[in-house]
Formats: sequence, structure tokens, C-alpha cells
Amino acid sequence: MTRLIFLGPPGAGKGTQAKVLADFFQVPHISTGDILRQAITDQTALGVKAQEYMDKGDLVPDQLVQDMVEERLQKSDAQKGWILDGFPRTVSQAVFLGNLLDRIQGDSERVVNLDAPDEIVVSRLLGRGRKDDSEDVIRHRLNVYRRDTAPLIQYYGDRQKLLTVNGNQSQEEVTSALKMAITV
Ligand code: AP5
Repeated sequence: MTRLIFLGPPGAGKGTQAKVLADFFQVPHISTGDILRQAITDQTALGVKAQEYMDKGDLVPDQLVQDMVEERLQKSDAQKGWILDGFPRTVSQAVFLGNLLDRIQGDSERVVNLDAPDEIVVSRLLGRGRKDDSEDVIRHRLNVYRRDTAPLIQYYGDRQKLLTVNGNQSQEEVTSALKMAITV
């Protein structure tokens, strides 16, 4: 069963590759960023709370995102596998997810660390131009990534769940490298 988590700095290509692999493995692509952006568009209570954090490039509080992920992973389409893009992003979210999976699905997830240098990801994101893609906010997101999310590389490495793939190559090359790493 495909249960994959994508880690990596903003702009590493997590969303791009998660979509391709979700199509390939026929499992849902669950992006916490996309779910939160939809909640903002719909002006739900979650969206209203999340917006101030996302506009600044800060993380939305763990509890809000964890509740959202728990609800999503209980849906029927997620019982045959999933690709998580952008979650977990803190050690406490990782502990939460581990406990949740033990409880509802069993502990068999693998984690892809998709890496790329800062200057590459900054130029990709400036070219994309999402609302949180101004240079100041991108640099802040990179700092938040280094402070709060990068420790997950060691966390999952210690648990022998981590695969690392170089995100600084063409999209097709990254996809091939991912498929190879996952099927080994
Ligand atoms: P989120 O939506 O997850 O954004 P992010 O992590 O900053 O990631 P990006 O979407 O910017 O980059 P990506 O790695 O997916 O790259 P992509 O494939 O799009 O989170 C946004 C916000 O939501 C957070 O700041 C936070 O506030 C909140 N949030 C989300 N999850 C949370 C959580 N768990 N806890 C708390 N808060 C949370 O590619 C980027 C660009 O590069 C595209 O234009 C693409 O076409 C291009 N590109 C991709 N691959 C390549 C390549 N190989 N070569 C050239 N260009 C490429």
C-alpha cells in the first residue's frame, strides 16, 4: 500500500511530484496547504483562522492542522493509501500522525525528503507567484522550514523511514528518481 509523506523546503517540488505519484499509484494527494487555501476561499472558520498565519508564512497552529488531517485520513478513499504533502511539519505533528496511524491504519508510512538549494527554490517560487510567494515571505517560510520542519529529517531517519531525493533536477528526472527510490 502506498503511504508516502513528502518533506522538503517550500518550492522543492513536493506538490508537483505528489500529484504525479498520486496519479501513478491511484491514491489521493492530500496537501494541507491546498486544503487550507480552499478553506480560506470558502471563508470557513478554519480558513479565517489560518489566513493570518499563511499570509505571513508562519505555520498554522498544530491542533487546527491535526484535526483537519485526522478528518481527511478517515475518509474512505484514504483507506487504500495516500500521499501527504506538507504534513507533518513539526515534530509534534509527526508524533500525532504516528499515533493516529497506529490507531486507524497501522504504521507503514515512508517519507521522502525532497531537497533543493535556497536560491533555486526562491527563483521557482518567485516565478510561480502564489499569494505567499513574495520574496520576504518566501525567505521567512524557508527559515520556518529550517527551524520547525527540518528536524523531521532526523526524526524519520532515526526510524528508518526516510528516502532522500535530489529535487534540483528536471521534473521528469525527479519523478524517475522518486519512483526508483520508492520501489527499491
Ligand atoms: P504549502 O502549500 O504546503 O506550501 P510550501 O511547503 O511552502 O510548499 P510550496 O507549495 O511552496 O512548494 P512545493 O514544494 O509544493 O513546490 P511546488 O511543487 O508547488 O503551505 C503553505 C502554507 O500553509 C504554510 O506556509 C503554512 O502557513 C500552511 N501549512 C500547510 N501545511 C501546514 C502544516 N502541516 N502545519 C502548519 N501549517 C501548514 O513547486 C513550486 C514551483 O516550482 C512551481 O511553479 C513548479 O512548477 C516549479 N517546479 C517544481 N519542480 C520543479 C523542477 N524540478 N524544476 C523546475 N521547476 C520546478
